[in-house]
Amino acid sequence: MIQKQQHSLLNKAEEACELLGRHLDQDHVVRIISHNDADGISAAGVMCNAVAKQQGKFHVTIIPRLKDENIAKFLKEKYKLFIFCDMGSGNLRGIKRLKGDVIIADHHQTIDSKEELSNSIVHVNPHLYELDGTKDVSGSGVSYLTVRPMGCKNLAGLALVGAFGDMQYKNGFTGVNKMIQDDGVDSGNIEIREDLKIAYRSNEPLYKALSYTINPVLKGISGDEEGAVTFLEKIGISYGIKFTELSNEEKDILKAELVKINPKIFGDVFTIPSEVPELTNLEEYSNILDACGKNKKQGIGLSICIGDRKDSIQEAQKLVKSYREDLVHGIQWIKKEGSVIQDNIQYIYTEEKRKKRIMGTLSSIGLDLEILDPGKPVLAMSRMDNIIKVSGRTTTEMTEMGVNLGYALENASKSFNGSGGGHNIAAGAVVPYREMDNFLNLVDEIVRTQLNS
Ligand code: C5P
Ligand code: C5P
Ligand code: C5P
Ligand code: ZN
Repeated sequence: MIQKQQHSLLNKAEEACELLGRHLDQDHVVRIISHNDADGISAAGVMCNAVAKQQGKFHVTIIPRLKDENIAKFLKEKYKLFIFCDMGSGNLRGIKRLKGDVIIADHHQTIDSKEELSNSIVHVNPHLYELDGTKDVSGSGVSYLTVRPMGCKNLAGLALVGAFGDMQYKNGFTGVNKMIQDDGVDSGNIEIREDLKIAYRSNEPLYKALSYTINPVLKGISGDEEGAVTFLEKIGISYGIKFTELSNEEKDILKAELVKINPKIFGDVFTIPSEVPELTNLEEYSNILDACGKNKKQGIGLSICIGDRKDSIQEAQKLVKSYREDLVHGIQWIKKEGSVIQDNIQYIYTEEKRKKRIMGTLSSIGLDLEILDPGKPVLAMSRMDNIIKVSGRTTTEMTEMGVNLGYALENASKSFNGSGGGHNIAAGAVVPYREMDNFLNLVDEIVRTQLNS
């Protein structure tokens, strides 16, 4: 059954590819619009690389969300082909008004998916074929599918960078992601080997590297330098040297002890061997793009993806450094302050600029570390003057019990003149500040209903 559904998705992607090909044949500039997170930036990167390979021209814009005012601006543009990556499925009514042809390469669940579309719009989204866009394919993956018939297996690695960014790698890749993985391995673009997944292990002293390691999380160590030092002292390994400087025997001891804390710390590591060293590891590549997006430097991220690297990588690495420091401080903050608990949800709140951009990520990490109760979805609230930006995160277990934060935030925000949506496990919204308490109570109520139905 899945095979058949995947086949239908691939057929739709092929239709999109033919449309793209017709515009490239006529030398039209391709208008690409994508999302400002790691997945969206790599999705745009996949598109641009594929267009460039066909000697085509493109014009890219990376935005945080597709709002009515963005669409109003695109309505004035004279491009003959618009491509929306990692967004668009929730904006069909607006997109239908564009004058040119349109390809939507998205993986978000959508309420207006039943909207009648004309032939000039090709909508590629796994949810339209009952496939799982939260786990099985990301925005960069759907973008990859739409250029795959042009012979783009060299982009399989970049397509999985977005899947890592959207946290779709669990104990492996599944569904379309697995197919992309196979494309990459078969064509030599991707290599996979088992190893310890310690972040920045060749660049930082071991205690720091361990405290920066959040994927997977290490309880008592992630975000906690003192915890990392204590752990290393206990197992008799000096904390000040780099992982790469350890003897093989020390590496074995470290591995055995870390696996006791979290078995996922030893597992498959994905690399693009032909990439420059800073981008070889797909998870590190994704972190770099994520840091660019979270700092509103999406242009640097995109430059990296399309091969204009001279200064971009160095610039991005500075952003990574400040980003990971912010995460460490954020983890300490959550450990200290905890969350405000309601019946069915919990929330954290900030007005601090450096925290605002990482509130969603902090919620995920807090749940993984269990410094936030995994049994209640987390709403992370960031105040921006008169509005509140909301990031919702929960666990696979809660989604299996019926929680769908995408629908909860979409419905609740609409009741207060806001907007929202996303995936069952991770979603976002914007609501007026004065409605914050009412909004939280309504989400609490919706989650209660979801759990009881
Ligand atoms: O808009 P987009 O789909 O790219 O973003 C998905 C978001 O959901 C990302 O912020 C990602 O980190 C988050 N996510 C999560 N936990 C998951 C899956 C996704 O926090 N298990
Ligand atoms: O949820 P959001 O998109 O903000 O999280 C984005 C980034 O945080 C991703 O790159 C993801 O890999 C990282 N992350 C992580 N480990 C966690 C939570 C998030 O690496 N436990
Ligand atoms: O902003 P954040 O990382 O919390 O977003 C999580 C998910 O919710 C993403 O997939 C994002 O595209 C989606 N979202 C949305 N509408 C919003 C805010 C976020 O669909 N207003
Ligand atoms: Zn995405």
